[in-house]
This record gives sequence, structure tokens and C-alpha cells, in this order.
Amino acid sequence: MRDQIDIKLATSPNDISAVSNLAAGISSLASTLDKNDDAARHTLLLKARTLVQALETPGETMIKHTWAQPGVAAGLISGVDTGLWTIMAKHVDEPQKVNDLADSLDMEPLLLVPELTSDWGWLSGSVAQGAVRSSFTNSRDITMGATLLIPQTIPLQMAYGNEQNCFEYLRSIGYGQQVNNHMGGYRQGRLPWIHPSIYPVETTILAGADTSPDTTLIVDVAGGLGHDISEFQRMYPNHPGKFVLQDLPVVIADAEKTIDPRIECMGHDFLAEQPIKGARAYFMHSIMHDWPDNVCQNILERLAEAMKPGYSKLLIFDCVIPRTGAYWENTAGDTLMMTQLCALERTEENWYDLIERSGLGLRIVKIWRCNQSDVENLIECEPV
Ligand SMILES: C[S@@+](CC[C@H](N)C(=O)[O-])C[C@H]1O[C@@H](n2cnc3c(N)ncnc32)[C@H](O)[C@@H]1O
Repeated sequence: MRDQIDIKLATSPNDISAVSNLAAGISSLASTLDKNDDAARHTLLLKARTLVQALETPGETMIKHTWAQPGVAAGLISGVDTGLWTIMAKHVDEPQKVNDLADSLDMEPLLLVPELTSDWGWLSGSVAQGAVRSSFTNSRDITMGATLLIPQTIPLQMAYGNEQNCFEYLRSIGYGQQVNNHMGGYRQGRLPWIHPSIYPVETTILAGADTSPDTTLIVDVAGGLGHDISEFQRMYPNHPGKFVLQDLPVVIADAEKTIDPRIECMGHDFLAEQPIKGARAYFMHSIMHDWPDNVCQNILERLAEAMKPGYSKLLIFDCVIPRTGAYWENTAGDTLMMTQLCALERTEENWYDLIERSGLGLRIVKIWRCNQSDVENLIECEPV
């Protein structure tokens, strides 16, 4: 075994031989890029990231993650806290001077310099939106603290010294609304599950759905503020059958303030008996990845009991991590789930173990893949 490692290992590019091909591929894709083609944009983005990785040295990667990224995050979040991005978003088309911005915010100009030395003006419009703003503050108040305490204190309950589950704890310290708003930021730029390139709702759910007025078309279980069911309802406003949003009563009380009144809101704990029997579809988005297998089995059992064999479907919209070559967003999410919730992002095998091999009376009909690096996929299930 060598006791001294050559410093060149840290200072040589990771894969300089790949650069020329990657750059040529990027150039060719970019020359024909259609601004409306999000899949092509995403392919280009992946290639550009691979190029950065090939050019970067391990030393630069270390500095990026350990030194620069915490600084970037701090700058972005303090821009949210001070209101800097909101002010900048009002004048995006004009040059803005640090001194004028500092005057408007009643701050020392020197304090704004770290935020403004990177060219983040383009970001200000999106950060000024409530949901995106919540994602930044959520990261400061919740995600970073718990994640950085890994591995001594997993999960978040231990990191913050309490016994409640993550959702109860965050609500108890006044962060409930922020977390729900963050879910609005989290979904931005992602394809919704009803996008035809992910899941053909019209042939799988709408065709064959009972159209009598008192039936339920879809239940969004633990649907938060109702982002998904609202999208569904806007897409199929006149489809017969009820559209139901379920979540804990405290979240439903918030959702009711803004949601379309044609969506029925219902306080419900998913560990209790499911009150809506025989709906055409029970949908869950970003729920299973919040819980360890034993809790997921309870949630699934309550749903399986309510489903009508041969008719009801269970639709799980969550990550399916490939065993190799996983997308960085999924593996990073896996760490977050572990540290915050004692849970995980699942591989295909994990999903089959959870759904089919735990004897819940459910089977996976198909995993509908999302081409955006498989960040979220639709797992269609039915009673056996
Ligand atoms: C990560 S959020 C996902 C929300 C929504 N499905 C979305 O994708 O925007 C998790 C949701 O689970 C809800 N939740 C947590 N514990 C619950 C329980 N015991 N019963 C029902 N909902 C619960 C939370 O209130 C929260 O809205």
C-alpha cells in the first residue's frame, strides 16, 4: 500500500480525454435546440454537467462542495431574508447599483457585496416567488442543519433533540406552512405526473371510470396544499366524479383558503381507515419516500383495504433510483430522506419488495418512466 498519494491525483482533471467528444456533442445539440423542447434542454444540461465533471479536478470538486457551495447557499438565503431578490425582481431590465439597493434595504452596502458578486440577477425573479422563497428558507431552517449533522445524529428528530416525527416537529416549531409552500417550489420545472410523456391518464384512468355523480374519480392522499389535484382538475374540469384532497386537518385548513371549491377537502390521517372506498384512483406524490418501510406498509394497507379489485388503481409518484448511474438529484435526495425522515429513495427492487413482496394484496402493473433523469416516476399498482 502506498503511504503517500501523488498530489497530481487531486490536481489533474478527472477525465480530460472525454472533453473533446463532450464539447462536440454539446455544440451539436445546442445548435438545434428548440426552446420549447424541455427534454432536449435537459439532455444538454446533463452533458454540460458531465463536461464540467470531466474538466474539474478532485481538488476543485472538494472546494466547490465544502467551501463554495455553503457560501453560495448563505448568499442566496440571505438575499431572501433581506428582501434583496424581491427588490431586484422589480427592476430586472435595468442595471442596479449596490449602493441604491443597500439604501432601499437600509443596509450597509458591504453586506450586500457577497450576494451580488455572482451574477444572480437572473435568479431574482424566481426567488421572489413565494414557493421558491420557501424552498430557500426551508433549506436554512430545516434541511441543512439535519443533513450536516450526519452521521452522528440521524434522523432529524435526533439532530434537533425531540421524539416527534419530522412533520409533527416542524409544525410544532412553526414551520408547517413553510414546508408545504416549499413543495410548491420543489415541483417547479418538473413534469407533472399527468403529462402524456409520463402517464397516459386518459386511457388508464379516465377510460373505464364510473361516471355516476356520487363516485370518486381521484383521491390525492397527503396532497399537501393540493398542487397535484388542482393541476388534474384544471386539465379535466368537467370529468364526472369527485376530486378529493386529503391531508392532516391542519394542512387542509390552509389548502381550503386557496383551492378550487370543486375539489373536496378532507382532513385524514393516512394511518387510519381510508374513508373513501372504491375510488378510481388513489394518488400519492412524494409520500412513500418520507417514511421507512414499516410505516409505508401501514399506509399501503389502509389504501389496499379501500380499493375495489378490478377497478381502483393506486398511483405512486416518487423516485425510482437505478442501481448504477443514478442521477445526483436522486442520490442527494436519498441522503436528505435518511437524515430528515429516517427514510429513503427506493430502487426498483425496493419498490417491488415494499409493494408486492410484503403481502399487502397489491401488485405493480407498470413503472412509467419520466425521461427527466428518472427523478420522479409513476408506479401504477392495483389490488391482486
Ligand atoms: C412531502 S409532502 C407532499 C405533499 C404533496 N403530496 C406534494 O407532493 O406536494 C408530505 C405530506 O404528507 C402529509 N402528512 C404527514 N403525515 C401525515 C399523516 N399521518 N396523514 C396524512 N398526511 C400526512 C404532510 O402534511 C405533507 O403535506
